[in-house]
Amino acid sequence: MTDLTTIYLGLPLRSPLVASAGPITGDSTMWQRLEEAGAGAIVLPSLFEEEIEQEAESRAFAEEFGTDMFGEALSYLPDLDVPDVGPARHLAFVEKARSKVSIPVIASLNGTSPGGWVRYAKHLADAGADAIELNLYDVVVDPTISSAEVESRYVELVEEVRAEIAVPLAVKLSPWFTALGNLAVRLQAAGADGLVLFNRLYQPDIDLETLTVVPRLALSTPTESRLPLHWIANLHRVVDISLAATTGAHDGADAMKLLLAGADVVMTTSALLRHGPEHLRVMERFMRDWMTEREYDSVAELRGSMSRKNVPDPQVYERANYYQVLHSYRPKHHR
Ligand SMILES: Cc1cc2nc3c(=O)[nH]c(=O)nc-3n(C[C@H](O)[C@H](O)[C@H](O)COP(=O)(O)O)c2cc1C
Repeated sequence: MTDLTTIYLGLPLRSPLVASAGPITGDSTMWQRLEEAGAGAIVLPSLFEEEIEQEAESRAFAEEFGTDMFGEALSYLPDLDVPDVGPARHLAFVEKARSKVSIPVIASLNGTSPGGWVRYAKHLADAGADAIELNLYDVVVDPTISSAEVESRYVELVEEVRAEIAVPLAVKLSPWFTALGNLAVRLQAAGADGLVLFNRLYQPDIDLETLTVVPRLALSTPTESRLPLHWIANLHRVVDISLAATTGAHDGADAMKLLLAGADVVMTTSALLRHGPEHLRVMERFMRDWMTEREYDSVAELRGSMSRKNVPDPQVYERANYYQVLHSYRPKHHR
C-alpha cells in the first residue's frame, strides 16, 4: 500500500492533500465530507484584522461613553453582549470544527501590521486550532513605502504572532516579492514553521458598460500552479521549514508535480468549489496509481526529487530558463 503520509508544520498528516481556506472549509456541513474524502487537514477561512479592530473599537467606544448617552448611536453598533458577533463567532466556529473532525484543523488569521489584534492567534489556538496560518494578503499602493519596510513589517508581525502561540505557525504569502528567497529565510528565523505559497491577488476589473470598477473573483486554472511549483522547487532545502503549495492544484497530476518540486502538502480550493469535496478522492487515486506505476512506496521518497537542488540542470529554475523558454516557442505558422 502506497504511503501518502506527510509531516506538515510538525503535524503528521495521513495525506498531503489539504483543503485550503475558502467557502468549502467555511461550510460546517462540508468538514466531514472533506475528512471522508481523504483530506489530510483543513484550513478554515481567515479571521481578519479589520474584524478584530472593528470589534475592539466598538467596545472601547461603549466603555468610554456608556450606553445611555449615546443610545441612538449605539443602536447602530452590534450588541456587545451577544457573543455571536465577529471574532467571538469565529472562535466558536474553530471550536466546532475541532470537535467535528479528527484531522488537524488549521485556523487562519489575516492581517498585515503588528498590533493588539495578533493576540487572536492565541484565542484561535485556545479554541482548538492545531496550527495557525497567518495570511499576509496586502496590496501596498503607497509609493513612499519601500519593499524593505514592508518585508520588515511582515517579519515583525510573524515574531509577534509566534510569541503569542505554542502551536505551529504557517505564513501565507503572495508571490510578488523581489527577493523571495531572502524573505523566506527571514520568516523562518522569525519563527515560521512553514510557508504557504501562494495566495492569489484578486485584481478588480473595469466594466465597460457601466464604467465602474468591479470585483471579479475568478477561480484559478491549472496553469497557475506553475508559480508555486517554481518557487517551491527553488526554496526546497533552502529553508528548513514546511512548504505548502496553493493555487492551481486542480487534479492529481498537479499535486504530484508540486510534491516532486518539494511541497510537503498541496492545498486546493478552486477544484473543490468546482467538483465538491469528493474530488479529493479522484486526486488521491491518480497519485496512488502514478506512484505504484513508478514503484514509489511513499511520498517521502519522491518529495523534492525534482527541486532545484536535485535536478541535473538547476538552471531550468533560473534566469537561463527565460532565454530557453522564449526561444523554444514556435508560432503556429512556423511549425
Ligand atoms: C471564495 C474564496 C474565498 C477565500 N477565502 C480565503 C481566506 O479566508 N483566507 C485565505 O487565506 N485564503 C482564502 N482563499 C484563497 C484560497 O485559500 C487559495 O489560496 C486560493 O484560492 C488559491 O488556491 P486554488 O487555486 O486551489 O483555488 C479564498 C479563495 C476563494 C476562491
